[in-house]
Amino acid sequence: MNKRDFLKTSSLATASVVAQPFGTLGVPVFPRQKNSKKALMLGGRGFIGPSIVRALLTAGYEVTLLNRNKTNTDLFTDLPLIVCDRERENKAGLKAIPKKHKETYWDVVVDTWQKSSKAVADFLEEFEENIGHYHYISTISVYDKWDDKYIVEREPLNTLPPTPTTIAEAFRYALRKTFAEEAIRKRLDNYTIYRSAGMKDYRTDRKGDYSAEPYWPVRFNRGGEILVPKIDNHDIQFTDVQSLVRFVVHCAENKTYGEFNVAHPTMAFEDYISCLAYVTQKPHKLHWIEGDFLKKEGLIPYRIVPFWRDRPAGAYYFNVQKALSAGLVNRPVTEMLADQVAGYLSRYPNDEVRFGITVGDKTIKYFSMEKEKEVIRKWLTRS
Ligand SMILES: NC(=O)c1ccc[n+]([C@@H]2O[C@H](COP(=O)([O-])OP(=O)(O)OC[C@H]3O[C@@H](n4cnc5c(N)ncnc54)[C@H](OP(=O)(O)O)[C@@H]3O)[C@@H](O)[C@H]2O)c1
Repeated sequence: MNKRDFLKTSSLATASVVAQPFGTLGVPVFPRQKNSKKALMLGGRGFIGPSIVRALLTAGYEVTLLNRNKTNTDLFTDLPLIVCDRERENKAGLKAIPKKHKETYWDVVVDTWQKSSKAVADFLEEFEENIGHYHYISTISVYDKWDDKYIVEREPLNTLPPTPTTIAEAFRYALRKTFAEEAIRKRLDNYTIYRSAGMKDYRTDRKGDYSAEPYWPVRFNRGGEILVPKIDNHDIQFTDVQSLVRFVVHCAENKTYGEFNVAHPTMAFEDYISCLAYVTQKPHKLHWIEGDFLKKEGLIPYRIVPFWRDRPAGAYYFNVQKALSAGLVNRPVTEMLADQVAGYLSRYPNDEVRFGITVGDKTIKYFSMEKEKEVIRKWLTRS
């Protein structure tokens, strides 16, 4: 597909989103299909969990949640909830779950766990006999090396230290997720693991935290003079949460097992910018500024300027062919971006988030509009 076709397809899709921008935000989700299969959602009230729950409800599953009833307690109050702390030593929380839930056959269990490394193994040991299909939301961080492009699912994973025997043992994120995957593989055959690559959705993972808001959608929604990095062969990759959750339901319905990299195929940053300009429809002027110039001004890749990594070589190039062949359908990028902007404006109707500034003892991520203005001025007046 050439760029014009791509934008045309994206535009058509956006029109429907703009007409009803909160279509995917609204609860409840109707119409629901008839199904009557039972789904147990471990967690479900954080960042991606609510989208998974809605997708399961839409597909007709009877959904029960399991969490501590601490996070976003206003969500899904009409659904059955098993209150349980998975992070208690010796499985104390899991063992206290009423027998009727342990004896229920769960056609589908979806787990998003990212905390203590032992908790996934503990859960499986308690529920193993009654799990029809276990789905785990993982990450591309489980791969050991990102030095080559187009990493596929059989590439080596992180080398793991000895398996933790207590909940308290702490490991970095990538190892926690790798431990979780290993625990699943050791105990089950009927599992699907989804390795995501930087999730984007209308929700954010940290409510009230400016740093969790998406830089480019927020910036383009403001319009005006916008700084964009001009880098040779600048490609990016991300996971659209709504496409991911539809794939989870698809795998559940089709009993598709195994490990999958789940993301949008690598795309040119320039195309991403075109989509943003289209979705936000704000008058703007782009200043494409060379990467080396930006670096000299302190606008370094990734940490300060999002969606720009000059290493390792494999970042933004994970191979998603296996998932595409198995039925992953990535919705148009413009739809995802329209959701991100709508989500941002639902949290901050006055567009009050400011990046790159210091509030109290905390510096917000990315870079400020003042810095942007200063760098554009220096770029335009360079000799
Ligand atoms: N940008 C990104 O790529 C990105 C960002 C964020 C997350 N992620 C990944 O997405 C995955 C999903 O994370 P999520 O936050 O979206 O999941 P989620 O299922 O929506 O939310 C986490 C759930 O875990 C529950 N929970 C926390 N501690 C618990 C405990 N001790 N016992 C039982 N339940 C507990 C929370 O409820 P209670 O507190 O009420 O127990 C909450 O409902 C994670 O694996 C993470 O790796 C990726």
